[in-house]
Amino acid sequence: MNMLELIEKKRDGGVISKEEIEFFVRGVTDRSIPDYQISAFLMAVLWRGMNDEETADLTISMAKSGKICDLSDIPGVKVDKHSTGGVGDKVTPILLPIVSSFGVPCVKLSGRGLGFTGGTIDKFESIEGFCTSVEPSDFKNKIERFGLLLGGQTSDLAPCDKYLYALRDVTGTVPSIPLIASSIMSKKIAGGSDAIVLDITCGSGAFMKDIESARELARRMIAIGKLAGKPVTCVMSSMQQPLGIMVGNILEMQEAVSVLQGRGREDVKNVVLTMASEMLKLTPFGKGKEIDELKKLCNEKLENGEAFAKFGDLVLSQGGVLQSDGTPVYVDKSFEVMTVYAEKDGYISSCDALSVGEASCLLGAGRMEKEDVIDMGAGIRLYKKIGDKVSRGEELFTLYTGTKAPVSDDRIDEALFHMQDAYVISDSPVTAPKEILEVIS
Ligand code: URA
Repeated sequence: MNMLELIEKKRDGGVISKEEIEFFVRGVTDRSIPDYQISAFLMAVLWRGMNDEETADLTISMAKSGKICDLSDIPGVKVDKHSTGGVGDKVTPILLPIVSSFGVPCVKLSGRGLGFTGGTIDKFESIEGFCTSVEPSDFKNKIERFGLLLGGQTSDLAPCDKYLYALRDVTGTVPSIPLIASSIMSKKIAGGSDAIVLDITCGSGAFMKDIESARELARRMIAIGKLAGKPVTCVMSSMQQPLGIMVGNILEMQEAVSVLQGRGREDVKNVVLTMASEMLKLTPFGKGKEIDELKKLCNEKLENGEAFAKFGDLVLSQGGVLQSDGTPVYVDKSFEVMTVYAEKDGYISSCDALSVGEASCLLGAGRMEKEDVIDMGAGIRLYKKIGDKVSRGEELFTLYTGTKAPVSDDRIDEALFHMQDAYVISDSPVTAPKEILEVIS
């Protein structure tokens, strides 16, 4: 078998056999295929696509490229969650403690942010002392003691995806449905959970720009789950504008903490409660219960402080530092660079998630390149969201930077330019977009 023939076959719209896919995955994992041929193949897949069988073969082969976690000696149904990525997405730090406070074991393996989307691992690492490298051999012990854990993708878990994802990010080959489906599902299968709930973000600040592509991605991942014997539920959420009002690592953790303290905004709560309820629905506790009833029960966990207490357990169990009021100590602070005010009266008709994500990245909250150091304090606070009424002179947004990775004035100017582009004020009233677009299982 040779890689050039494989590239040419896909380039010309051919179907790749299981043996050929295994050859490709082996060659990526042991580095015997050079990056330029891997990249050419990825680009051919992006243009020509893959059928269901090819996508499933790629997923299973990628999952088997490293260790498959065996969580079978942890009692109970283990439900995992993953998001296809977004701007201001602080769902995981709120959702894990809620689900865990029902006694459901939660093992969450998360990724870092790349490009304009944030990553859960980076957000947790904004907490002083929090350690995200948990060895699979420690999972059982941690779950028995604390009920939940949050770890990064270790080098022996789906290593082929780790390598492919980094290459995709720098070759313009991320937004391919079969490549996203296999990337996510290979990690979820290797992670060893019994059932999976996926947040498929949809809109300018997501890889899936429209609902049709989001549905197709959902269909593929549900089909892969079926093949692997794991029930999959897909929640399609809007990423037309950022989720909540804070974007950036420390800022998003602070917003997540305020939701956990029962003070959160409705848009964030709605996505969190929907995802948490769908996760519970896949466990014996939630079986037979209506989603609205589960949402109500999850909300009670926010209001009675149980979820906040669980969050504290999670932080302490992984070496993080808390203040006496239970809120985290962060590795840095956010310093205001400037606040921008509305220039006219009207209604917010756009708060474009992609532009906000790019602006936040420029301020230092995300990586422009793989090796970049993140400025944990950097980010943006939004005062107005789509549908809000605004008066001339009212605050629209504030830009922040931290102290750990200062950026140049040019980058701050560019961030400001993106933010001014993100906001549009119209004269007539605008309806706020729904956060949850569809749920498919
Ligand atoms: N998240 C992943 O883990 N992989 C992708 O390809 C896209 C989002």
